This record gives sequence, structure tokens and C-alpha cells, in this order.
Amino acid sequence: MKVKKPTSIAIIGTGNVGRALAAAFSSFGYKVTFGVRNLDDYSAKEWVQDHPQIQVERVADAVDVSDVVIACFRPEGLSEMVKHMGDLENKVLIDAMNSIINKKTPFETTTHALEELTNCKNVVKCFNTTGAENLARPVFGRQSMDMFMAGDDAYAKEVARHLAKDIGFSECYDLGSSEVYVLMEQLAMVWIRLSKSELRREFGFKLLRR
Ligand SMILES: NC(=O)c1ccc[n+]([C@@H]2O[C@H](COP(=O)([O-])OP(=O)(O)OC[C@H]3O[C@@H](n4cnc5c(N)ncnc54)[C@H](OP(=O)(O)O)[C@@H]3O)[C@@H](O)[C@H]2O)c1
Repeated sequence: MKVKKPTSIAIIGTGNVGRALAAAFSSFGYKVTFGVRNLDDYSAKEWVQDHPQIQVERVADAVDVSDVVIACFRPEGLSEMVKHMGDLENKVLIDAMNSIINKKTPFETTTHALEELTNCKNVVKCFNTTGAENLARPVFGRQSMDMFMAGDDAYAKEVARHLAKDIGFSECYDLGSSEVYVLMEQLAMVWIRLSKSELRREFGFKLLRR
């Protein structure tokens, strides 16, 4: 499938993941806009002063000016945040969140919730299986990490693969349809579990082939 190269990305969530992805995508020339609930009070308010290339708008305005929307806020606020997002019909929506630790929604995963609660048809789960610092720096010496994705929409997956490779991931493997969203969150749990060992957080998954 030939993907129209997206040029603009709305990042909804300005915490660890939001900042890492904003830094990565802006450094590769994407127009990045943070979407925030309160323009006077949001997590990255100081951080953006050192990153003037990143715009900050209300959530719906950030969505409006962007081709791709990446959801990376705390999942307990998902149903409220969806109301702020507005119309996602012509957007690709990438879910980088995990709900598996913080199970406060009635949905199996954050991605199930986004599919159910938004009008977006182009949803893909991606960028959730490693620590935020590795999203910003997926290259380790001469090797790069791999990324993974899942979803039912082929176009959204091609966009996610394209974006992952653009910011330095070696490959973005397709794990399957929406049936494997839980598996994607469990893979994140594998990473989190390993991060509690002496490996700490500066490591990533890489697939080897013979
Ligand atoms: N941390 C990681 O290494 C990592 C890696 C991969 C995936 N994830 C997943 O990504 C998601 C975000 O993680 P994070 O570490 O970036 O979180 P974080 O640093 O705590 O980010 C918090 C962000 O979520 C927003 N937020 C807080 N409470 C909210 C609520 N009730 N409703 C809506 N938004 C709310 C904050 O909004 P304000 O800006 O308004 O304060 C802020 O933008 C989680 O699902 C996590 O499991 C995390």
C-alpha cells in the first residue's frame, strides 16, 4: 500500500511519552502540535519553552490541524479526553497508551475504548511497548530497536510503520488485528518487568532472523 506521507502530528498528552514523541518527530521535520486541556496549565509547560518548534493548542484545535493524532495521556481520563478531541473521522489515530496496570475503564484496552468512543476508522496501536526514553532514542550504537503495532485498518498501520521507521526504529512489525491489542499491552508489561531488573530502562526489543 502506498502511504501519503503525513506531515503534521497532534500529540495528546504532554507527559513522558508525549514529550519523547514530540522531540523525535519534530527533530525529523514533522509539524508537531501538543493538544492540551488547559492552555494555562499542562505537564510540558516549562519543557516547551526549550522546544519552540512545538506548537501548543487546545486538544480539538491540535487535532484539527494535524494528519495524525497520537494518544498518550493517562488512560483514566480517556472518556473525557475523547470529548475534547472532537472529529477524528479523517485522521489516523495512534494509541500509544496502556491500560493494563491502571484498569479504570470498562474497556479491555485503551485502543478498544478509542475505537468505541471516537468516530475514527483509522486506529492503530503502536509506540506502547517500550519506555518513553527509547521512543526518543531508538538507536543503540549501530543497531536500532524494532517497534510493533496492531489494528484492523491497513492504511493506519502503514502510516504507523512509516512514522516509526522515520524516527529511527529498524522495523515496525504487524502483530495482527484488534484481537491482539491485549497482547500489545502484555508486551509492554514484559518491557516494564524487565525494566525493574538490572537492565533498567535503556533497552529495547529487537527481532533476529536467520
Ligand atoms: N512512561 C512510559 O515510559 C510509557 C511508555 C509507553 C507507553 N506509556 C503509556 O502512555 C500513557 C502515558 O504515560 P506517561 O508516562 O506519558 O504519563 P504521564 O507522564 O503521567 O503523562 C500525563 C499526561 O496525561 C495527562 N493526564 C493526566 N491525568 C489525566 C486525566 N485524568 N485525563 C486526561 N489526561 C490526563 C496529563 O495532562 P496535563 O498535561 O494536562 O497535565 C499529561 O499530559 C500511559 O497509558 C502509559 O501506560 C508510558
